Amino acid sequence: GKGLAVFTSGGDSQGMNAAVRSVVRMGIYLGCKVYFIREGYQGMVDGGDNIEEANWSSVSSIIHKGGTIIGSARCMDFIKREGRLKAAHNLVTRGITNLVVIGGDGSLTGANLFRQEWASLLDELLENNKITKDQREKYKFLHIAGMVGSIDNDFCGTDMTIGTDSALHRIIEAIDAIVSTAYSHQRTFIMEVMGRHCGYLALVAALSTEADQVFIPEDPVPNNWVEKLCKRLQQERKSGQRLNIIIVAEGAIDREGKPITAEMVKKVVVDNLQQDTRITVLGHVQRGGSPSAFDRILGCRMGAEAVMALMEATPETEPCVVTLDGNQAVRLPLMECVRRTKAVAQAMADKNWDLAVQLRGRS
Ligand code: F6P
Repeated sequence: GKGLAVFTSGGDSQGMNAAVRSVVRMGIYLGCKVYFIREGYQGMVDGGDNIEEANWSSVSSIIHKGGTIIGSARCMDFIKREGRLKAAHNLVTRGITNLVVIGGDGSLTGANLFRQEWASLLDELLENNKITKDQREKYKFLHIAGMVGSIDNDFCGTDMTIGTDSALHRIIEAIDAIVSTAYSHQRTFIMEVMGRHCGYLALVAALSTEADQVFIPEDPVPNNWVEKLCKRLQQERKSGQRLNIIIVAEGAIDREGKPITAEMVKKVVVDNLQQDTRITVLGHVQRGGSPSAFDRILGCRMGAEAVMALMEATPETEPCVVTLDGNQAVRLPLMECVRRTKAVAQAMADKNWDLAVQLRGRS
């Protein structure tokens, strides 16, 4: 059977295990020899026990687990050609020419570069007598399929990335818990949530918890934000509300691109309104714990689709990323999605927030 390997790269997210499980089982079902690559690209470079054949039962009882059982890493060695040469050697000697990468845009870009270089890497290995002529010929094509695992929902081309829904569950559970103590003491709470440069988690969490205010990177605060915030909070208290909840995305900014932090917001509330105020930074709790039903199913469906894409690939097929479009798992050109995602980052850096939001939307 064909050699196929799956690995997870970059920050972990809930639902990655469901995706790994699905890749392994769909691969075996279609007659492939399936491998785990542990610790992301680092495991691919280091080889040895990091690349291990998987079987049907090696992915039993993982669908409900958060994180990734095969480990993940940010790898510096793979950035250098020397590292990629070692990785290619490790794959060819095991007959692996199909890769499923589960990670963010950086990890997907790495996989694409690896594929572009594949022929020249194999030539160099042959020259150095690391592989045989037969191996050079037999494994001359590398096929890549990607899936996006990230709690941030910051990737263009998909409605949801694997992990976002579970992170949202974790966030709103935490906010609900905070609300009861805030109510008792008539306090104001400022909750800092993750998302890097994407405000999706903060925005959706705010909408689903009746928060009074949300700060997100895509909608930088106006110059008069202090007055506006104080007026809003005062109004809420005057109308009988015993608490206030303010959500600050970790990437929140003002119109000059300077960070708006939970500490800054707290100072505004305390100095102007003298409200009893606390900050809760949710941190990595958001990335942990059991995946939601949505993320389990999303991982399963995307994993199966990724394997099917690889099995149907011809030498001319461009690498794809499996994404969610409405309720459908679909294949999109990997690099086009990566390029759009990078264009969003550039638009944000250029302070063109409208363009960023527009690019992030569906095409
Ligand atoms: O990309 C996922 C994420 O959790 C972001 O929301 C956050 O900014 C970042 O990773 C944290 O990175 P680390 O786990 O390396 O601290």
